[in-house]
Amino acid sequence: MDFKQYVADVPDFPEEGILFRDITPLMSNGPAFHAAIDEIVAFAREKEVDVVVGPEARGFIVGCPVAYELDKGFVPARKKGKLPREIESIDYGLEYGHSTLQIHKDAIKPGDKVLIVDDLLATGGTIEACVSLVKQLGGDVVGAAFIIELDEFAARDKIADTEIFSLMHY
Ligand code: PRP
Ligand code: HPA
Repeated sequence: MDFKQYVADVPDFPEEGILFRDITPLMSNGPAFHAAIDEIVAFAREKEVDVVVGPEARGFIVGCPVAYELDKGFVPARKKGKLPREIESIDYGLEYGHSTLQIHKDAIKPGDKVLIVDDLLATGGTIEACVSLVKQLGGDVVGAAFIIELDEFAARDKIADTEIFSLMHY
C-alpha cells in the first residue's frame, strides 16, 4: 500500500520552519489504518513482546491497537501530573520544545520484554525518554516501531542498541 498518500504535509506548523507530517488522514481511513497497524504487528511478532509502551498522546493511538492485536498489555507513558500512583519520571527535548514523561513504577516488571510504539520519530527525544524509563524499571526494550521516521534527525544513532521499524521515511 502507498501509505504516503494518507499523510498531509503542513508547512509552518506548529511554528515557522517546521514541515509537519500529519497522519490523521491515515488514521481516519479504516483500511489504511488497519494495514499500517498490521505492519507494526508483523515487526512485533518477530520479537518476544510482553508489553507495549506508548507515549502520550499519539503513541496511544498507534500503540493500543498493536497491543490489542498481540494480545499483550498496553502501558501509557504520560505527560507530567496525569498518573495517580508512584511514578518514574524523565525530562526530555523535542523538535519544538521540551516535555516530561512519566510511567507507573509497577507497570513494567524487571525482565519484561518491551516494545515501544509511537506515531513519529523526529529528534528521538521521546523514544530516548521511553527507553530510559523502561530501563529504570528493569525492563528490556526489544524494539521500537513508528508510522513515520524523519531521517534528517538521525535519531537512530541516539538509540543504536534498539531495533527500529518505521513504516515510512521522510
Ligand atoms: C510528537 C510525536 C512523537 C514525538 C516525536 O509528540 O507524537 O511522540 O513528538 O518527536 P521526537 O522524536 O523529537 O521526540 P508530542 O510530544 O508533540 O505530543 P503529542 O503526541 O501529544 O502531540
Ligand atoms: N509531524 C508530526 N509530528 C511531529 C513532527 C512532524 O513533523 N515533528 C515532531 N513531531
